[in-house]
Amino acid sequence: MMEKTLPVNKIIFGDCQTVLQNLPDNCVDLIVTSPPYADSRKNTYGGIHPDNYVEWFLPKTTQFLRVLSELKT
Ligand SMILES: C[S@@+](CC[C@H](N)C(=O)[O-])C[C@H]1O[C@@H](n2cnc3c(N)ncnc32)[C@H](O)[C@@H]1O
Repeated sequence: MMEKTLPVNKIIFGDCQTVLQNLPDNCVDLIVTSPPYADSRKNTYGGIHPDNYVEWFLPKTTQFLRVLSELKT
């Protein structure tokens, strides 16, 4: 369900793509990411094979652009 207003001082835990899809357009001023290093840390937190990385990351960037406000940082 799409959030109408953003919760304040709350950490929303989850798959970033799923969480982002529930946020309204232009509601975020800053995005800081530390995405997986493809599969070079697969023994730590799993990972994505380098051949599939762009395909895996692009839909997330689409959501980043959608939720970012005019400030776009
Ligand atoms: C490079 S590490 C982040 C390291 C972190 N910045 C630190 O300083 O410890 C990438 C992290 O992204 C998480 N991750 C992978 N896929 C994700 C997704 N779809 N949504 C949210 N987090 C994800 C992994 O579990 C991993 O913890």
